[in-house]
Amino acid sequence: MARILLTGGAGYIGSHTYVALSEAGYAVTILDNFANSDRDVLDRLARLTGTEVDVVEGSVLDRALLDRLLSERAFDGAVHFAARKAVGESVARPLDYFETNIGGLVTLTQAMRDAGVFRLVFSSTATVYGEPEVFPLTEEMPLSHTSPYAFTKITCERILEQAALADPWAVGVLRYFNPVGAHPSGLIGEDPRGVPDNLMPYIAKVALGELPVLRVFGDDYDTPDGTAWRDYIHVMDLARAHVQSLDALMEGRSHVVNIGTGNPVSVLQMHAAYQDAVGRELPYEIAPRRAGDVPKLYADPSRARDVLGFSAEYGLAEMCTSSWTWVQAQKRGWGFNS
Ligand code: UD1
Repeated sequence: MARILLTGGAGYIGSHTYVALSEAGYAVTILDNFANSDRDVLDRLARLTGTEVDVVEGSVLDRALLDRLLSERAFDGAVHFAARKAVGESVARPLDYFETNIGGLVTLTQAMRDAGVFRLVFSSTATVYGEPEVFPLTEEMPLSHTSPYAFTKITCERILEQAALADPWAVGVLRYFNPVGAHPSGLIGEDPRGVPDNLMPYIAKVALGELPVLRVFGDDYDTPDGTAWRDYIHVMDLARAHVQSLDALMEGRSHVVNIGTGNPVSVLQMHAAYQDAVGRELPYEIAPRRAGDVPKLYADPSRARDVLGFSAEYGLAEMCTSSWTWVQAQKRGWGFNS
C-alpha cells in the first residue's frame, strides 16, 4: 500500500482528497497546522473512512519536523495543499504569502529530496492565467499574475519545473477552476471564517438566513445574462482528480492539467441552481463589478481527460444540493454526532 503525505489535509479540498485517497487504497498521513481548519474534521474523516486518521500537527515550514516525519514513515509521495489562498489578503500581506506558499513548497521539496521521495501533486489554480481573452483555457496559454497569491502559484510551478531538471521528480500540477460543493454525507465541506468572499458559500449563507441578500457583482459583462462566467467543479470530482494524478505519478508520468468541467456558468445561473436545491427564492440584487474580477474563466478540460483519464461527473445540481446539505448540517450541529 502506497503511503502519501497530505499537507493541509484538514482543509476543504484536502479533507475531501483524504477520503478519496483512502477509498482508493492509499495510506495517508495528514500534516496540518489548523491555521484555516478545525480539528473536529479529523473525527469526521475517521467516521467517513472507518479508520483513525494518522495526523501530525505542524507546519510545512518546519524543516526539522518534515525530516523527522519523512524518516519515520516510508512515504511514496506527497499531495501539497497547505497554503494561503485569499487573494485580497495576499495584496495586503504579500510577504506572508511568499513565506507560506513559496517557502512551504521549497522546504517540503528539500525534505522530500533528502529523503529520496520524488512524487508530488501540487495545488495550482486557474488564477495563473491572469486576465485571459481566448477561451476555453488550455494549459499552453501564457501565465500572468494579477495578485501576490497568483504570483506565488506561478512561482511554485516554475520552481517545480527547475527542480525536475536536477532530480528525478514526478510532479502533477493541478490547476483548479472554482471548487464548490461538499461530500454528500454533509460531514465535510467548506467552512469559511467570517463573511465569505466566494459565490457559493455566500449564497449558502443567504439561504440559511444569515446574510440578507446576494449581491451579484456586475451584470454588464459580455455573457448572455450579463453576469460573469466561471467553471465550477464539484469538490468530489476535484478530490478524485488527485487520486488519478497520483496514479499517474506512480507510473512516472508528470503532468500539468486544468481541473474544471469546461462548462461556463454565470452568477445568475448559479443563483438559480441554488434556489432549485433549496426549493425557494433567494433574494439578490445587482451590484457594481467587483475590483479584480475577470469576465470569464473556464477550462478546456481535455488534457486532464487524455493524460489522467479524468473528467468531471457531477453537475451544477449536485454541487448545490451537496452544499445545501452541508451548510444545514453545520447549522444544526448534527454533522459529527448524528
Ligand atoms: C476566487 C479567487 C480564486 C480562487 C477562487 C476559489 C479572485 C480574483 N480569485 O475566484 O483565486 O481560486 O475564488 O473558489 O478572488 N460573486 C458575486 N457575488 C458574491 C461573490 C461572488 O456576484 O457575493 C461573483 C464574482 O464576481 C465572480 C463569481 O461570482 O464573478 C465567482 O466568484 P468567486 O466565488 O469569488 O470566485 P472567483 O472570483 O472566480
